[in-house]
Amino acid sequence: MKNLILTFALLGTFQLLAQDEPTDFLSAEFHKGRREALRASMPKNSVAVFFANPVRNRANDVDYLYHQDPNFYYLTGYKEPNAMLVLFADPQTGADGKTYTELFYAQSRDARRERWDGKRLGPEGVKAKLGIEQAYDHHEFKNSTVEFKKFDKVLFFDFKNDARDTPDDADIVDLTQQFREKAGIPANFNGARETLYSQLRGATEENFKQVAETVFARYGRNPAMRNDEHLQAFIKAKDGKEAMKVIKNMPQLPSNLDMSSLSPKLGKLRMVKSPEEMKLLRKAVEVSCVGQAEVMKAMNPAMSEMEIRGIHEYVFRRYGSEYEGYPSIVGSGHNACVLHYVENNRPRMGSDLVLMDLGAEYRGYTADITRTVPADGTFSPEQKAIYEIVLEAQEAAFKACKPGTPMRETTRICREVVDKRLVEIGLVKAGEQHEYFPHGVSHHIGLDVHDLSDGGPMAEGVVITVEPGVYIPPNSPCDPKWWGIGVRIEDDLLITKDGYELLSKYAPRTVAEIEKMMALPSPLDGYALPNLDKK
Ligand code: GLY
Ligand code: MN
Ligand code: MN
Repeated sequence: MKNLILTFALLGTFQLLAQDEPTDFLSAEFHKGRREALRASMPKNSVAVFFANPVRNRANDVDYLYHQDPNFYYLTGYKEPNAMLVLFADPQTGADGKTYTELFYAQSRDARRERWDGKRLGPEGVKAKLGIEQAYDHHEFKNSTVEFKKFDKVLFFDFKNDARDTPDDADIVDLTQQFREKAGIPANFNGARETLYSQLRGATEENFKQVAETVFARYGRNPAMRNDEHLQAFIKAKDGKEAMKVIKNMPQLPSNLDMSSLSPKLGKLRMVKSPEEMKLLRKAVEVSCVGQAEVMKAMNPAMSEMEIRGIHEYVFRRYGSEYEGYPSIVGSGHNACVLHYVENNRPRMGSDLVLMDLGAEYRGYTADITRTVPADGTFSPEQKAIYEIVLEAQEAAFKACKPGTPMRETTRICREVVDKRLVEIGLVKAGEQHEYFPHGVSHHIGLDVHDLSDGGPMAEGVVITVEPGVYIPPNSPCDPKWWGIGVRIEDDLLITKDGYELLSKYAPRTVAEIEKMMALPSPLDGYALPNLDKK
């Protein structure tokens, strides 16, 4: 990118556009309410610390499009990097005698940088726009008088290790390092290892063998963890007494440091969506449904996976969605059998089934919807047979969606239907193990596509997916007529007082609905571009 040319080209328009932002973001009151709710769940004399997401480098002097950490966004509404939030369970008194319960450190205003990279709020903007009274420039954290070591609990998330240290001495690497020093976190601190040790500490003389197995299953593939001397000693312990001795000898962090409590606390809050959040999440889902319907109208066998992706994402942008909630998946034929296929680079889809798993992210909230359709507009008998099995499984799982149902129940129901029906159509033999349905069926959605939750059963106000699938890669041990068929159907459901609302009902789902939609004309029919391959 040639900086000077770009400056002159964009500067005039930027200043006009910068004042012209959408107005339907979450309100400052919402974020304040979330901070209060989190504070209410914190133990007495505790402090919680949050860091903004790092800027990730793409190559040379180009970074990936910045995206805020969802917890940080939920609590503040701040969309910039190099910032931190400190929340206190109990009111603190400053040197000026004023009390406060939160501190925010924002990246500095910087006329030169803002001319290149866009507007920054700075501490004053944080006060005015986000309603956080105690907001400071991030360079001031270094001299902050907060005595983290004096708190009974210091709550924090594991640090992100993919941040780049820049010449600025208050970037996220510096803020994190300053916090570590102030809180007494040892230089050799390793978050993953701490999580492992805390799991081992939960073992008793009676269940130590079982804990060793569970922990090893989780960490066994990571050599640094697998070969940890304490884990090895724990696994080799002859009896419960020896296992307890191993635990006693494991290095201990200062006892007030707590890296494990924030996630369940935020999960409990974030999983239940308020009306203000639902307005945005509904919009994300509806935008994504329109994308699916418009693509169905426009699709033809000569199209590429990339073009299909582009039409979805164009629809997202038409509605003002800032991001995709996850990399878009458009896989035709055997590509549909790769669960998170993101290359999307097959030039011609022919008459194959096309699996399209895409979600618009609108004001932070992301949909997660999958539709699978025949590129030529008509299901073949084999495509239809597999599609209807997946649909039947999904419909059966829908019936169980209500408060109190364990999240894993939808997977159990879908597997039961799929296993039975694959035998009926002769694709697998009775009792035969198969690998055609290799994933679970439900997760929460929200600010993350795999949203935080408390890990408990479905509850009123949570939004979940139901996404069974059957994938038959080439060379599978079955009649080759099934090869290259991959089907996933994924919908988003709001759990209500006594059941559910199907939020993604606007995207055609049955064979008849899909074929009908695909027969409709599209505004893109006849939209020809110059052929650049002809000399
Ligand atoms: N799109 C990711 C998922 O379905 O979980
Ligand atoms: Mn999903
Ligand atoms: Mn999905």
